[in-house]
Amino acid sequence: HRHLLGIEHLSPSDITAILDLADTYVDRTRSPDKHGTALAGLTQINMFFENSTRTQSSFELAGKRLGADVMNMAMQTSSVKKGETLIDTAMTLNAMHPDILVVRHPSSGAVNLLAEKVNCAVLNAGDGRHEHPTQALLDALTIRRRKGRLHRLTVAICGDIAHSRVARSNIILLGKMENRVRIVGPATLIPSGMDRLGVEVEHDMKAGLADADVVMMLRLQKERMSGAFIPSEREYYHRFGLDAAKLKAAKPDAIVMHPGPMNRGVEIDGTLADDINVSVIQEQVEMGVAVRMAAMDLLARNLKEARA
Ligand code: CP
Repeated sequence: HRHLLGIEHLSPSDITAILDLADTYVDRTRSPDKHGTALAGLTQINMFFENSTRTQSSFELAGKRLGADVMNMAMQTSSVKKGETLIDTAMTLNAMHPDILVVRHPSSGAVNLLAEKVNCAVLNAGDGRHEHPTQALLDALTIRRRKGRLHRLTVAICGDIAHSRVARSNIILLGKMENRVRIVGPATLIPSGMDRLGVEVEHDMKAGLADADVVMMLRLQKERMSGAFIPSEREYYHRFGLDAAKLKAAKPDAIVMHPGPMNRGVEIDGTLADDINVSVIQEQVEMGVAVRMAAMDLLARNLKEARA
């Protein structure tokens, strides 16, 4: 592959190859010498048109640990604020000969459009409600390391599915790897036609979490809601917020995940989120660096082959 735009373009063996390489980078980043040379001599530009803590910092660290020259474009102070378009901005940076562009944008499809115009590798760091492929890959790595496999598991993805690129990428990935995926939430936050993606739909946490190996909670994305449906947070937490009592419906060894940023007391109880016996939220963050190292390493190999 030339780019990493979405899980929809990856085969099960592509996914396994990224996770296998990422496993080696987990060991590397836990060792005293974190650095490699896979991206030495390459230039990586991060363009985040939407806020980020985890994704931007981990792409930056991943690039630096593999020897790339990494530049973070400060989009808030760029000429985008003077009306320059996404494509004009990208073409301007493209003229400086980057090798890797990492792009987050609020519009679904914007990153794919940009990838058609530039002559370097593009990684989608989240586009609107569409895809967030490296998030699904880091979630998959966390699950595989914790459960010892990434198939025939029951995964409950709970909350605001309608606005979530994380849910979409995870549903596609977990389906490709032959897992049972259940989505759980109020009908107003679950788009119609989800059964076409091969998932089960539940509107009750007890039924949705029954026998789950993995419980993945999602943030209520109020910034993407048009005002048509903004539930009361107290009511939402009562019915759909994960706490120790609701978690009892899942398997006794179930793990709790959240991509972050989380809203404590809205979709998840803070004490449960901090309980290292069940919560793997910090581990997800750690896996994020390793997965991004692996994804950029593999794209750089393809780039070098194409240029040879
Ligand atoms: N999970 C995730 O994408 O977090 P950030 O928005 O902080 O990057």
